[in-house]
Amino acid sequence: MEHIYPIFDQILARSDKETQLKQHAQVVWFTGLSGSGKSTIARSVEGSLHKMGFFTKLLDGDNVRAGLCKDLSFSQADREENIRRIAEVAKLFLDGGIICLCSFVSPTHHIRSLAQEIIGKDNFLEVYVNASLETCEQRDVKGLYKKARAGEIKQFTGIDSPYEVPTSPFCTLDTNSKNLDTCREELLTKLLPLIQFNA
Ligand code: ADX
Repeated sequence: MEHIYPIFDQILARSDKETQLKQHAQVVWFTGLSGSGKSTIARSVEGSLHKMGFFTKLLDGDNVRAGLCKDLSFSQADREENIRRIAEVAKLFLDGGIICLCSFVSPTHHIRSLAQEIIGKDNFLEVYVNASLETCEQRDVKGLYKKARAGEIKQFTGIDSPYEVPTSPFCTLDTNSKNLDTCREELLTKLLPLIQFNA
């Protein structure tokens, strides 16, 4: 049978995209307590990468739990489903040659290893954003810790739901003692060699 339009049956590989974009794709996975500074650092890193000419996508609670995952609660099962969906989306960006920054509490080893399994261990860069519960609670940017302490929010990470500290992250950023610029530069120093095309 003759086709009116040519058929492009060649599926483009990730390497084709990376060559065109002149970058190597990675998933940078920020984990830490609510209020630890994950999304603030992720946004800042994304801004720097953008200025340097990299193509990026930032996924965080603001754009994911409001849409793709708005049907999910904070039970362990729903957190797992939240992270599963996010990891699948991140993998699609990875396949498209895009550097994907994911900022999610992702509180347990089990949940993070699930994400790592989906994404692949060579492209899953775990960044532990470390701030003590006391620091996060003092900041309480969204007023959620106060509500959790008052019992108005259940299963709040760090209060009545566990947070398991990563055992061997790609990078640890301590926001108790370091400011945003220092954390951003620390991460960029480690990340750039992995994403620069001719490195
Ligand atoms: S995760 O555990 O499934 O990875 P996610 O990162 O999507 O969590 O969402 C965490 C954000 O949702 C927190 O930063 C906080 O603003 C808000 N939140 C609301 N309820 C909870 C809760 N019970 N536990 C943790 N975070 C909560």
